[in-house]
Amino acid sequence: MLYVVTVIVIVSLLKQTNALPCSGPQISVCDCEDTKVYCYGRNLTTLPSNIPITTTDLYLSNTYISTLAEDAFADLVSLDSIVLSNNALSSLPVELFSRNINLKSINLDSNSLSNIPSELFSSNIKLLAISVANNALGSLPGELFSFNTNLEFM
Ligand SMILES: *[C@@H]1O[C@H](CO)[C@@H](O)[C@H](O)[C@H]1NC(C)=O
Repeated sequence: MLYVVTVIVIVSLLKQTNALPCSGPQISVCDCEDTKVYCYGRNLTTLPSNIPITTTDLYLSNTYISTLAEDAFADLVSLDSIVLSNNALSSLPVELFSRNINLKSINLDSNSLSNIPSELFSSNIKLLAISVANNALGSLPGELFSFNTNLEFM
């Protein structure tokens, strides 16, 4: 177990060798490297403000975030990948990803989602991968992925 933890820590450190604290109030708890923003494992209950609008990869796993406003990611039009796994999200506003038309990957694993709005991904036609494993979902709306014709992984 300790070995596994050590390997994970080393891999995490290697992944962020050039990452430095992001600049700006609140967002400085996260690390930035080019257009990647690493906030995973931070003691956050809400999304930090001042996420750079140029962000392409946003890592928000393993925090304590339980709610997201519908405009939480509205400025992040270059977003390519978002990881929201291992949080406390129980619902998501239908407009959450509506401005992120370049998104290719969304990871919502290991939250407390009991339903997903049927149009949540309707603006994300470039999506290649969506993961919603390990939530409290009964069944998914039949039309949930109807706009996501490029999906390769779910
Ligand atoms: C997380 O933040 C809260 C509020 O700022 C604080 O009370 C708590 O002790 C922090 N937990 C850890 C593990 O740092």
